[in-house]
Amino acid sequence: MRYAISGETKIAKTYEYDVVIVGAGLAGLYAALNIDESLSCIILAKENMDNSSSWLAQGGIAAAINRDDTPLLHFEDTVVAGAGECDTEAVSVLVNEGPADIENLARLNVPFDLDEFGEFHFTREGGHKKRRVVHAGGDATGRETIRALAGIVSERKNITFSGYTCLFDVITSDSGSASDSSPKVTGVVVRYKDSEFHHILTKNVIIATGGIGQLYLASTNPPVATGDGIAAAIRAGVRVSNIEFIQFHPTGLWSENSSGSEFLISEAVRGDGGILVNSEGERFMLDIHELAELAPRDIVARAIVRELKRSGESCVYVDITSKTEDFLMTRFPTIYNECLNHGINIAVDRIPVNPVQHYMMGGIETDICGLTSVSGLYACGEAANTGVHGANRLASNSMLECLVFGRRAAAHINNVSINDSSLEGDNPQPKTQDNCSQEIANQSLQLLSLGNRPHKKLDYTQLRKNIQQLMSENCFVIRNTAGLKTALAGIEAIYSQLKAVYDDCNDYLETLNIATVAIAIVTSALNRPQSIGAHYMEDYRQ
Ligand code: SIN
Repeated sequence: MRYAISGETKIAKTYEYDVVIVGAGLAGLYAALNIDESLSCIILAKENMDNSSSWLAQGGIAAAINRDDTPLLHFEDTVVAGAGECDTEAVSVLVNEGPADIENLARLNVPFDLDEFGEFHFTREGGHKKRRVVHAGGDATGRETIRALAGIVSERKNITFSGYTCLFDVITSDSGSASDSSPKVTGVVVRYKDSEFHHILTKNVIIATGGIGQLYLASTNPPVATGDGIAAAIRAGVRVSNIEFIQFHPTGLWSENSSGSEFLISEAVRGDGGILVNSEGERFMLDIHELAELAPRDIVARAIVRELKRSGESCVYVDITSKTEDFLMTRFPTIYNECLNHGINIAVDRIPVNPVQHYMMGGIETDICGLTSVSGLYACGEAANTGVHGANRLASNSMLECLVFGRRAAAHINNVSINDSSLEGDNPQPKTQDNCSQEIANQSLQLLSLGNRPHKKLDYTQLRKNIQQLMSENCFVIRNTAGLKTALAGIEAIYSQLKAVYDDCNDYLETLNIATVAIAIVTSALNRPQSIGAHYMEDYRQ
């Protein structure tokens, strides 16, 4: 299926920007701030700037800034966690350039937590042999970072922010010149406020739409994480890779009445002394890995799943009662308060947890400039597969990746655009319906041979639940071939129903996107009949 829109889609407005950024998490905002101020740029967010995985990020941002640390040590921890699947050039870029981006965030007034000497305070998380994770607001690093950057974005004259704007399709042209036959981006079609469609003409699109949490029954991601950018890229024929590598965070807060969007008990709690115990109070990580509770995430998640299978219980526990209440209230205010809302005082009670979907290591394949297989189409943040995470992401490398590769994508666009005489230059004025050549706009969609599909509403809530069930049962921490095949057959049947019809609403699009990405994940998982990193096949024999 090439387009989610159809021939009957009515475009209410057409306008033009030099750069379109889809997603307002850390990758999207930081990319926007690095776009040359002579270029007009629009940021599209499905909801608002306070609704992203970045906003929810607790633990912090990893970077080798501490005196006893080096980029090389950070590199080593990253590739060990990545189980040999990392792209070492990309990792090298990440760990060497990352520290300057952290310094830049501090200059942009991100209120990092400092020690008694006024220096960054560092914490430690799973897989790190050094304390190298900087944080803000105790355990509210994402919120504090996004707040600071959003303030600056709103003052930039060349940046427009458009909330409640949902990406339907990336439009490409296959009419490349003789010397370059690869397709090029020509624009995007979005739905504004779930009511009207807009066609935005552009030569540069950055997809920074985050993750895929809504493919699962339980995830730390917000409800907006339906894989929209990845699905649009798949429809546009862009290469995606490594998407079978899905990270399950070992410690989502467990409760009897889980809503699906799970509250995270940050790994930083274990970094500051929290231990994992079963219902008997026994530590079970000691025999499993030399780093015990701070082993790489895939190892801890599998250990918990096995422990739960052995005990028949629904959860294990994080125990941080070795710390004082004063310490916990200051260091982990968000976690302390949320647990209190659940009737848990973390200074005296153990915290019930279990593994939940958290992150996707793979995604839209990019080079180290964030460029995808389609000219003018970039990806960064969780939606991208830059190669830095390999088969398992090292804790707190995700925000660093947003910074380094968001900036790099922007720099690439700046370079290309400055040499492109058709772009406006000095005083960027987004072109409106009146001045962007409506003729060209209409033509470009008419040329697409969109076709018509019958207009029909389906029960999207039920279809999503069915996909989530299939993914949670068969494509979770421990997988096997038969389960993956069951999931694939079930999701393909749902996808067939969806692609046979057209419905001009966000619910249709999101369900279609969830099905599209789920099929891609399960297919990739079946194509890798081995256990590596977060992709663990119990029927694989070495
Ligand atoms: C956490 O705080 O445990 C999450 C950090 C991350 O996902 O890197």
